[in-house]
This record gives sequence, structure tokens and C-alpha cells, in this order.
Amino acid sequence: MEKTKTADYRFYGRRKGKKLKPSREVLLESFLPKVRLPDIVGREDIDPLSCFSLPVQSVWLEIGFGGGEHLAEQSRRYPQTGFIGAEVFLNGITSLLTHLTGMEHRGDVDENVGLAEGRADNVRVYGEDVRDILPCFKAGGFERIYVLFPDPWPKRRHADRRFIGPKNLPVLARLLKSGGELRIASDDMNYIRWSLQHLMNSPDFEWTARSADDWRKPPADWVNTRYEQKALAKGKKPVYLIFKRK
Ligand SMILES: C[S@@+](CC[C@H](N)C(=O)[O-])C[C@H]1O[C@@H](n2cnc3c(N)ncnc32)[C@H](O)[C@@H]1O
Repeated sequence: MEKTKTADYRFYGRRKGKKLKPSREVLLESFLPKVRLPDIVGREDIDPLSCFSLPVQSVWLEIGFGGGEHLAEQSRRYPQTGFIGAEVFLNGITSLLTHLTGMEHRGDVDENVGLAEGRADNVRVYGEDVRDILPCFKAGGFERIYVLFPDPWPKRRHADRRFIGPKNLPVLARLLKSGGELRIASDDMNYIRWSLQHLMNSPDFEWTARSADDWRKPPADWVNTRYEQKALAKGKKPVYLIFKRK
């Protein structure tokens, strides 16, 4: 995907992991084009509802979907909702495609792999830095934004690489409609403290938690992500933050 303007930010994570299996290369060629986000970079005021081939009632954005477990399952549960997912890591993108197609259950794939009719219609994927597309959407276009187990960048000198922070929060606030939700989860308590500090200082967001269980336990419709499963397996206790757009 071409970028039309020079970005004033850099992406510091991994873009590629181990070599892709041929079956996954096939998925990238044959299936990704069906779910790729239309080319909106450099444009403005795009209504997220217009990015889907069938009408959807509202749109949720997942930033850094990793292996795509959460995005794939939520899009299956909520067929009337449009899902835009952004992920830079190519192996993660192919993992999402296996979840969407059910390929992982079949073990391999052929040229004709595809979703059951309709399943491709409510998912759109941007395979680059999400910051390229955030300014392109119209204000209030999203009902929900997920940032799940973001890279923690624990060193103090890397703090400005943390996705939740003073640069991105106003951008996310612009995109959320009033009453819309920003959902963040992390098992890194430093990141949670950092996020809380910036969110509480923001004039745009209001924490919905009323008791400790509201942040200790995931919300009712939760789907485990891969990083969450890894954290739970190590005995860590993730924190789940839900902030409402004022
Ligand atoms: C620690 S992983 C968590 C993945 C997934 N959310 C999970 O919980 O399993 C963070 C992911 O965010 C992606 N990421 C970080 N910054 C991003 C950006 N600016 N745009 C798109 N993806 C990003 C990384 O590539 C990485 O896969």
C-alpha cells in the first residue's frame, strides 16, 4: 500500500517474522484482496461505514490485532458491525486470514479458499501503520476502538513509542462518536498506570469503572487475544480499561 505523504512518525516493531508457509502466501494473494481496506491514505472525511461491501450499522476499529483471534471472532459474533483492523506484522495478518477463512482447521489451503458468503463483508484490513489512516476518517465515525495488549515499551526513554499517550489520544477521541468506547487491555502494570494517567488527564474520556471488578475482569463479550493467553499462562493478571468518549 502506497503512502502519499511523508509521515512524521516511525514504526519501531517487527514487520515480518519467520518465513511464511506457501499456503499462507496463497492466502495473502487470494484472500487478502477481498478484505483489504480501500485505499484512503491522503484522503479526508471518509465515513468508515462506506468501507464495506454490504451495509453495516456501526464500525469498530482494532489497532494492532496481532494474530487476529479477537477481530475474527468479534466479526463473526456481530455480522451487522463493520470491523476495521490494522496490523503491521505480516505474519499476524496471515494469521487473521486463517481465522477468517477457517483454514487453520483444515490444515492447508487451495487457490479457491474463501469465507462462507457474507463473512468477508464486515472485515477490512489495513496492513500498515494505523496512524496512516486515522486522519482520513470523519470525526465520530467509530463506535468502538480496541487497543489490546499494545507493545509496552517499558524503558522510560521509549515512552513516546507507547500507542496510548498524548499524541494519539486526541486522534482517537476525534474518531469516536459521543458515548463510544475506547477499550484497552494490558498485563503490563507500568503501561496501565501510564494509560490511566493520560486518559484521566484527557478532557475527552471518562472511565466507566465503578468497582475493582470492572477493571480486573474482562467485559462480558470478551474474546481472549494471543498475548492475553500468554500472560494468563504465566499467571499474570491483565487489566481491562473501558473509557467512554464524552
Ligand atoms: C503486543 S502485540 C499484541 C497483539 C494483539 N492485540 C494481542 O493482544 O494478541 C501489539 C501489536 O500491535 C501492532 N502495532 C503496534 N503499533 C502499531 C501501529 N501503529 N499500527 C498497526 N499495528 C501496530 C504490532 O505489530 C503488534 O503486532
